[in-house]
Amino acid sequence: MTRVLITGAAGFIGSTLAARLLDEGHDVTGLDSLSPSYSTAIKRANLAALPPERFHFLQRDLASDDIDATVADAEAIVHLAGRPGVRMSWGADFEGYLRDNVLGTQRLLEAAVRAGSTARFVHASSSSVYGQHLGIPTVETAPLHPHSPYGTTKLSAEQLVGAYAANFGLRGVALRLFTVYGPGQRPDMAFQKFLTAIAAGEPVAVYGSGDQIRDFTYVDDVVDAISRALEHDGVLPPVLNIAGGTSTSVNEVLALLGEITGLPVAIERHPAALGDVDRTDADSSLARAALDWAPRVGLREGIERQWTRVMARRTAGAY
Ligand code: UGA
Repeated sequence: MTRVLITGAAGFIGSTLAARLLDEGHDVTGLDSLSPSYSTAIKRANLAALPPERFHFLQRDLASDDIDATVADAEAIVHLAGRPGVRMSWGADFEGYLRDNVLGTQRLLEAAVRAGSTARFVHASSSSVYGQHLGIPTVETAPLHPHSPYGTTKLSAEQLVGAYAANFGLRGVALRLFTVYGPGQRPDMAFQKFLTAIAAGEPVAVYGSGDQIRDFTYVDDVVDAISRALEHDGVLPPVLNIAGGTSTSVNEVLALLGEITGLPVAIERHPAALGDVDRTDADSSLARAALDWAPRVGLREGIERQWTRVMARRTAGAY
């Protein structure tokens, strides 16, 4: 049993990870600022689903609050907290991205150094660090040219983890996660918006042609990769792609949603969103070798599970 600290524990990936680590018998502390980047009711519901007698929750903002004692107590740290979303990071909102993704990460790393931490530090990075028009499939050594302000903050955060690891011997590893989906997905992300709209008999909003491709990754596969990284007691490469190997266009996804839901999918076309890349398609062979990991949930099965959750929430009258 390990005392694991999860930042961003109220979020989609954080709460799914907490449930899994608790199941495995770990002692889990979750930090989250419960920021209104999306509905705090959803975040509170994510927390409420975790067993209160074994899950310790602290509402803390990494960018401003004192986190020293909590960090010092952790035997392993998973840093998922941050302000998410590629398309919302333009304009005045950038300050929040900078604060949450860069300053929050730097303060967490400083706390780990002050504590003399020997904990494994697993950092959630993002496919958005790569940017547009890359060699496909994308390897970790590909050039990094983020296409959105969000991507630049995620790249800075990842580089901070690398700098602290190199200078202070922190046992950091950055996992570049590719478009994560599954039950409990963030409400601003494509599948959750699409499925919620279809359930309500409303049209789905498609940005651009719908030909854009994503390497969609099922949340349990991401959680499995994080769990393996936590348990790894040797030397890991500093950066690993974690991707589902599903590369599929939005238009193909919409056809699949029609089959899975058995409901009509009315499409409402919108202009392409600034910051969106045309394609993500990862080579995750480094993670497969280093973590003895492979994605196990295919796109159809994963979306079916997400649809089941959307319908259950609807029936229960929840969001
Ligand atoms: C996702 C997450 O939102 C980011 O936080 C994360 O960093 C990133 O993955 C990542 O891979 O690192 P994104 O790929 O934009 O970003 O994920 P979705 O929101 O699921 O969008 C997938 C595609 O659907 C995009 O091309 C988007 O333009 C499109 N989309 C999304 C629509 O056509 N309509 C919508 O209503 C929402």
